[in-house]
Amino acid sequence: MIAHLFNAPLGESEAAVGVGTVGSSEAIMLAGLAFKRKWQNRRKKEGKPCDKPNIVTGANVQVCWEKFARYFEVELKEVKLTEDCLVMNPAKAVEMVDENTICVAAILGSTLNGEFEDVKLLNDLLTDKNKETGWETPIHVDAASGGFIAPFLYPELEWDFRLSLVKSINVSGHKYGLVYAGIGWVIWRSKEDLPEELIFHINYLGADQPTFTLNFSKGNYTS
Ligand SMILES: Cc1ncc(COP(=O)(O)O)c(C=O)c1O
Repeated sequence: MIAHLFNAPLGESEAAVGVGTVGSSEAIMLAGLAFKRKWQNRRKKEGKPCDKPNIVTGANVQVCWEKFARYFEVELKEVKLTEDCLVMNPAKAVEMVDENTICVAAILGSTLNGEFEDVKLLNDLLTDKNKETGWETPIHVDAASGGFIAPFLYPELEWDFRLSLVKSINVSGHKYGLVYAGIGWVIWRSKEDLPEELIFHINYLGADQPTFTLNFSKGNYTS
């Protein structure tokens, strides 16, 4: 349902790729890990070093991005905010992208003021840069607070999988009420965007369960 809501390009009988998480923080750790592993695999294949990954965000990112960077050893490159722009400036973000950038993270609903970042412009500028350089720098959208607002209030706004470089999106369930605290999701655009080796197959109570989470048990049930 969420993948469809975010316009994932799924065929008729194709299953969506995503996971229920404890909240957007866990969802972001997982999305970040997938980007890091994909980038490392690509660099290894090209015979290039893969020990200095970085991620580009606005300086307005929520603290879980700093946690991701520190715990998973990725340099966080933040676009500075200015008095007249309290969110990430897409042009400045794309300028900061280099061959070691695992993704650019945009926020739909900045924690500071609720403002949506311009994901469409970011996608256009990054597409041009990727063409020039041959890199394949992707975009993650942190839609923790805007993911269940934008599709309903601004259905024409292109911020989700309609944009070709958007490879994953997270959203929190508990920011909207009527659920227990501790629920969120991360959705990937397609199977190719989540490296297979990150998925654990466990046989629990007699059936194969593919899992990609940091926690095994959690205080809510999603499938
Ligand atoms: C933009 C953004 N990303 C991530 C988070 C972390 O979300 P959670 O509390 O669901 O882990 C928040 C929480 O305020 C947020 O506003």
